[in-house]
Amino acid sequence: SRFPEAFEICKEFRIGREKMLQIANALTKEIQLGLARETHPQAIVKCFLTYIQDLPTGRERGKFMALDLGGTNFRCLLVNLTDGAVMQSTLKSFAISEELMQGPGTDLFDFIAECLAGFCKEQNIGNDRIPLGFTFSFPLQQIGINKGILRRWTKGFRCEGVEGKDVVELLQSAIDRRGDVNVKIVAILNDSTSTLVSCAYSHPDCRIGLIVGTGVNACYVEQTSKAEMLDGYESSQKPIMIINTELGAFGDNGSLDSVRTVYDKTLDIESVNPGSQTLEKCVSGMYLGEVVRHILLDLMRMGVLFRGMRPDEMQTKWIFRTRFISEIESDPPEVFHNARVVLYHLGIKTDDLNDMACLRYICDSISLRSAQLTSCAIVAMINQMNVESCTVAIDGGLCRYHPHYRNLIEQQMSILLKNASAYKIVLSEDGSGLGAALVAAAFANK
Ligand code: BG6
Ligand code: GLC
Repeated sequence: SRFPEAFEICKEFRIGREKMLQIANALTKEIQLGLARETHPQAIVKCFLTYIQDLPTGRERGKFMALDLGGTNFRCLLVNLTDGAVMQSTLKSFAISEELMQGPGTDLFDFIAECLAGFCKEQNIGNDRIPLGFTFSFPLQQIGINKGILRRWTKGFRCEGVEGKDVVELLQSAIDRRGDVNVKIVAILNDSTSTLVSCAYSHPDCRIGLIVGTGVNACYVEQTSKAEMLDGYESSQKPIMIINTELGAFGDNGSLDSVRTVYDKTLDIESVNPGSQTLEKCVSGMYLGEVVRHILLDLMRMGVLFRGMRPDEMQTKWIFRTRFISEIESDPPEVFHNARVVLYHLGIKTDDLNDMACLRYICDSISLRSAQLTSCAIVAMINQMNVESCTVAIDGGLCRYHPHYRNLIEQQMSILLKNASAYKIVLSEDGSGLGAALVAAAFANK
């Protein structure tokens, strides 16, 4: 390589098999701490109850609404289910501005209610009270299927007045305040949960729902007897419950220190939630581009890349979108079309193939570490469930748009597991909408 400095930096992002196995084991232990009543309060990986104890039967029917907050876009959906099939579903997306993400909570919930009202009008939803499933992709301590306290914001949200409150109540009051929408929130769930449920509709052996998008998280199907926090709950006799691990927080107590680099640490310090969501910051779409930017800045400071160019654009936080990583890695070997476009956008005009090869090498290294850690997470849940085979439903921008993220996961899992091919990775086709609608259907009359 013409850039030994870059090579050395990327080396710090490599994780070997032994280390990966250690990480997977440590995560399984953290999951157990989250599940146990005694250790739950201090646990890093919270393992929240979801109160979902049945996977879809295919017999769900009726009209349901779903809201999806916490990914790249906020979405409203109307889903019509008949026996064993999704008849029709309509979707509308809205962007959530940074102002809303960081302003007062009431503004956020009023905005959601307003979008919902507009959507209902467009869809000519008259006076029937439509049951709604709310996909809310943040750490939620649930105390029932439609009751959940936001523990802390993640992924750049920090609206005041929401942490510690019941999110269903906040949204339902915003809806009711308007007086023009007749919608009842019957269930609240995480995006990983809705991904699992929606995949289970077509793959009954689905046991894990995994998101690698703006954030990272997973849920899995646990034996009720192991979910100690459920003790005393009336349905604790039912055999299973989906557990929302919130594993993006793994590492917050130092258990990932051996794989974190100086770039990860800088990113963390500059984030709105320093010390929180350590795994997420090494894995997910909100952060990977920013890690690459910090590496590039360092190499530019050393004067080894881009002939010493140091454009102002590169000083802008978040300018290197994770989408760019996917684009750069989508270029065929030896071709740097997308790389050139990305660099141009960053104020770097270069035709130097070595520069571009180096950039691609950096992106490859960051994506690989992300996929390795994701694989560790999957293995940790497989070990916890102790199942010989199952389907793993995945969703989120990085899985969906990165040219070989899923291949990387499969490849890494085969390094970690003897029978890796017994675990099938399936990209969710319906997003959260179907999952939330199915759960709404199950709880509509309860
Ligand atoms: C979508 C799901 O497909 O993926 C959302 O419907 C989820 O619920 C999202 O939050 C995660 O991806 P991203 O990349 O938009 O954060
Ligand atoms: C963050 C959220 C989590 C969500 C994940 C993926 O980690 O805390 O609830 O599932 O992002 O969107």
